[in-house]
Amino acid sequence: MRSAGFLPALVGLATAADVWVNEVDTGLETFLYGANWTEGTQPALKDMRAISDFDFAARQKLGDFEYGFYRVAAGGEWSYRNNLEVWSKVKFRPQHLTDVTKVNETLKTTILGYEFSAPVFIAPAARGGYGDERGELNFVEAAAAENILYSPSIYATKTIEEIASVKANNTLNGPQVIFQQIYTNTNLSVTWDVIERAERTGAKAFIWTVDAPASSTRHRAARYDTTNSNSATSAIDWSIYDQIKNHTKLPIILKGITSVELALKAVEKGAKAIYISNHGGRQVEYSPSPLEIAYEIHRNAPEVFQKVEVLADSGVRYGTDVLKLLSLGVRAVGMGRPFMYANTYGVEGVTKAIQMIKSEVLNDAAQIGISDLHNIPKNIANYRQLEDEVYLLPESK
Ligand SMILES: Cc1cc2nc3c(=O)[nH]c(=O)nc-3n(C[C@H](O)[C@H](O)[C@H](O)COP(=O)(O)O)c2cc1C
Repeated sequence: MRSAGFLPALVGLATAADVWVNEVDTGLETFLYGANWTEGTQPALKDMRAISDFDFAARQKLGDFEYGFYRVAAGGEWSYRNNLEVWSKVKFRPQHLTDVTKVNETLKTTILGYEFSAPVFIAPAARGGYGDERGELNFVEAAAAENILYSPSIYATKTIEEIASVKANNTLNGPQVIFQQIYTNTNLSVTWDVIERAERTGAKAFIWTVDAPASSTRHRAARYDTTNSNSATSAIDWSIYDQIKNHTKLPIILKGITSVELALKAVEKGAKAIYISNHGGRQVEYSPSPLEIAYEIHRNAPEVFQKVEVLADSGVRYGTDVLKLLSLGVRAVGMGRPFMYANTYGVEGVTKAIQMIKSEVLNDAAQIGISDLHNIPKNIANYRQLEDEVYLLPESK
């Protein structure tokens, strides 16, 4: 059991401007101390009221080794913090007196033609077994219960076959749809084996992660000798994309898109979908947040959002974060760590986290005057601060 106290002493002193705290103060600790809670014990699931509460709760249960692997980010973790803080650069311009009574009917969406109840999904993340012995099985079951997409990592604790064996048959798509994440390492036969097994067990698309060409600098995890799951990597280039296409007819989604040039190239190469992500800040320090990347694509090549389906993740914790990405043309938004932390409560925890983000998306949309999540007017947000730093291609200037 891990002792509590990862910066807790600072929480009371923190002013948002100068001291970084790991998670926002949702009143959880104040509440727990008032309820005679003992540090190092996990609070009741009913006391989880915000996505960020799950970080605190997981820290109480997991060992330093396991929590460190989930929480770690690259370098001085600036990108990790930026992922969480950048949202404040976009302020809303709520358009009240809009009829928002039917916004709930617009929550559902499709991804590559498959139906889901909401534009949120469980991002691929390695070693689900650190959080709960059922590991990824909880993600499959919670995703089915809530009718959202889940993509297991190639480095899942459970095997592809074990994961497939708990898929539901009664989702919006009939049999549950999951996408399989893949890496391409020096030994490509590992990838080909995964592709073959995932196809055989019914995966409907591959998410090819392109942002891990080497081990990353991760001090918090190196302390416990837990480095990247994917440390033995090779050059990842477009010729490998062509090789993957020769091994599968399923759609390939490129994950780790961090610039407009990459997005345009993926469109040119015929990708059906792209996935904006800086891997939760875990790969390289000073990589941009999804909001900044989506804005860069929107400013330089807005047609990308029409030509391919765009997914995104990294630092999403609130319904408003989801709305900001959707407003730029992103189709669905993933979360990684929050679901890994929620998994410390098993399938009920993951289900609760999904319900939480769904209801925040709906409530926040209504508050802002969004009546249709598939047609969010640009005037509901002020992007001026992103404009100050956006990279413009020479031809866009
Ligand atoms: C513990 C952990 C393991 C991860 N493993 C993988 C992986 O195996 N493959 C991958 O493409 N992304 C992996 N990711 C990145 C996630 O897919 C996602 O991009 C990231 O977690 C999003 O940021 P967030 O945690 O702030 O939501 C991992 C993330 C975490 C936290």
